[in-house]
Amino acid sequence: MAHVTVTAPINIAFIKYWGKRAGGETLILPTNDSFSITLSTEPFRSKTSVVLTDKIAEDELWLNGKKSDFASTARLTNVLETVRATSPPELAKLKAFIVSENNFPTAAGMASSASGYCALASALVRAFQSTADVSVLSRIGSGSACRSAYGGFVKWLMGKEEDGSDCRAVQYVDHTHWPEMQVLCAVLKGEQKDVSSTKGMQLSLQTSPMMKDRIETIVPARMEEISKAVTERNFDKFAEITMIDSDDLQQVCATTIPKVQYATEDSYAMIRLIHAFNKAKGKRVLAYTFDAGANCFMFTLKENIAEVIAVLLHHFPTADESLCFNDTSLVASYKAVEVADNCKDLLGDYPKKPFELLLHSPVGNGPQSLEVAESLIDEVALKPK
Ligand code: DP6
Repeated sequence: MAHVTVTAPINIAFIKYWGKRAGGETLILPTNDSFSITLSTEPFRSKTSVVLTDKIAEDELWLNGKKSDFASTARLTNVLETVRATSPPELAKLKAFIVSENNFPTAAGMASSASGYCALASALVRAFQSTADVSVLSRIGSGSACRSAYGGFVKWLMGKEEDGSDCRAVQYVDHTHWPEMQVLCAVLKGEQKDVSSTKGMQLSLQTSPMMKDRIETIVPARMEEISKAVTERNFDKFAEITMIDSDDLQQVCATTIPKVQYATEDSYAMIRLIHAFNKAKGKRVLAYTFDAGANCFMFTLKENIAEVIAVLLHHFPTADESLCFNDTSLVASYKAVEVADNCKDLLGDYPKKPFELLLHSPVGNGPQSLEVAESLIDEVALKPK
């Protein structure tokens, strides 16, 4: 009996995917290339176990403790059909018992679709011995998930073919290329978003006058420039382009009809804080990027990480239990930093309030296969553990 367990990481794009070309919601082919950093699976990751069996009548998926309605989720059905079509017939005819969970605290409000679909795709490919590419299979679950299939710095190439055969993620450099690079995410209190990224990008493509130039000229030029910055480990350039691309995505949303807004007052405060901090330091030491949500993702180098955390928490005082750090020794190191006088009042009289969570991660190395002992499935009883 095939029994596999896989973990998959979150990825954060610094050149954004926002729009689908022909192929729509089935093939999920983007209108432009995008570029991301894969996070470590510590502290946050998605985990999926799969058992192939002839003892159940239908495929079953348990997601975060609840049985999910498989058949009504077109993307899930599509992933399963694709994996079966690329598997040996004696395995393809078996049913899949799948259990999946994210370990992000609910308060994190973090997008789980990228790591979730990647863990699912990766586990299914292994269990079914499928010849499908994990990134391609992840992509038809959720576009951005394809970039979680690799560690390091990852490009999702849009491709040209109508059938999507040349649309896949590729690793640009692995997680050892730029080990100084660190990722933070300030989880900010936000309303439940009323426009999903799927819907938001459809509306933008149809109505925002900025999309044509973004797709045809701006992103291709930016991809080239930021690739060079990554190769050369040029943080200043990397930070400049990352923040411009994030600002552009917010502008695209603002010029979409009806207008889409994911940022909150706290998100804008973070943008002001980061620009003011860089100004006080006399160079770019911290960069922000926002997805379709309020949370602020940040990039900085290891040499600045303790000071960055100290400055962030000086303005957003947050209890230790809300700090989810890959490197737990950072709690002591940031507390040992004396915040410089010119970095103490970067937000004027903006109220001091805590982050919901502050996440820290280095660049990670992609999905991992785990031992059967770590499985989420009780194989004998065929139920979630
Ligand atoms: C803003 O991958 O969630 O995070 O393909 O419709 O599932 P679907 O959309 P999704 O979009 C993510 C968009 C983004 C930018 C990015 O990750 O590149």
